[in-house]
Amino acid sequence: MAEAPSKVTTASLRARKAGAEKIAVVTAYDVVFARLADAAGLDVVLVGDSVGMVMQGESSTLPVTLDEMVYHTRIVSRGVRRAHLVADLPFMSYQASTEDGMRAAGRLMKEGRAESVKLEGGVAVAELVRRLVGAGIPVVGHVGLTPQSVHQFGGFKLQGRTDDQRARIVEDARALADAGAFAIVIETVPQALAVEITRAVPAITIGIGAGRACDGQVLVMHDLLGLEAADHRRAPRFVRRYAELGKDVGAAFKAYADDVRAGRFPSEQESYD
Ligand code: KIV
Repeated sequence: MAEAPSKVTTASLRARKAGAEKIAVVTAYDVVFARLADAAGLDVVLVGDSVGMVMQGESSTLPVTLDEMVYHTRIVSRGVRRAHLVADLPFMSYQASTEDGMRAAGRLMKEGRAESVKLEGGVAVAELVRRLVGAGIPVVGHVGLTPQSVHQFGGFKLQGRTDDQRARIVEDARALADAGAFAIVIETVPQALAVEITRAVPAITIGIGAGRACDGQVLVMHDLLGLEAADHRRAPRFVRRYAELGKDVGAAFKAYADDVRAGRFPSEQESYD
């Protein structure tokens, strides 16, 4: 009998820093896709606050609440066996005070069954990261294009264009790693900057729009699966589509509606005597 693949842990992820095999991360928001991602062997499943944009139809992640993150994390946790499960701390669940962040992270772990939490920022959240790690909560940081600051950036734009910006992002990544974050997401920056950060910190780096040098990659599942209504949302340049589920789903819905209208569904075999 084939041996069951072993559980992915923060320790096994850390051990893959600069390793030959990169770490594969995907987002999920419900039990169906969580099961599919886990069975496909993804290393990490992230319940991202991108839920606001891809599941709730919002134009940013800002409206997502802690209750919503707890709910989505709990239902994803029922589908994840092997992968490591990370949940995002949503906007304003941790920025106002360290205590807020501790309690919010506690809810994601206790009620959501997350195995680690992710937060955005660097120097500004280092004290919170230190406290969380001290309380036994593993932390994933997030630097570069941090979507919760979209209004400060003036849009979802490439970060790290100037020397000042690059220095600040490196400083943020170092602060996160020094505070004990075991992983850092690096989003939408020039690839040379991701190379620099990946070399500079002991934490594993997970890139999204940050080139190939990171220790792993993450994509939003709707982007990689093409799970959008046609023309609804233009995927960023760094997305690679591995399926066109939006088109397949649209065609299936249309075929079903056509069959119902023409009396072809249900058939005799699909009916009870
Ligand atoms: O919310 C999210 O899905 C994320 C990933 C894009 C890294 O933060």
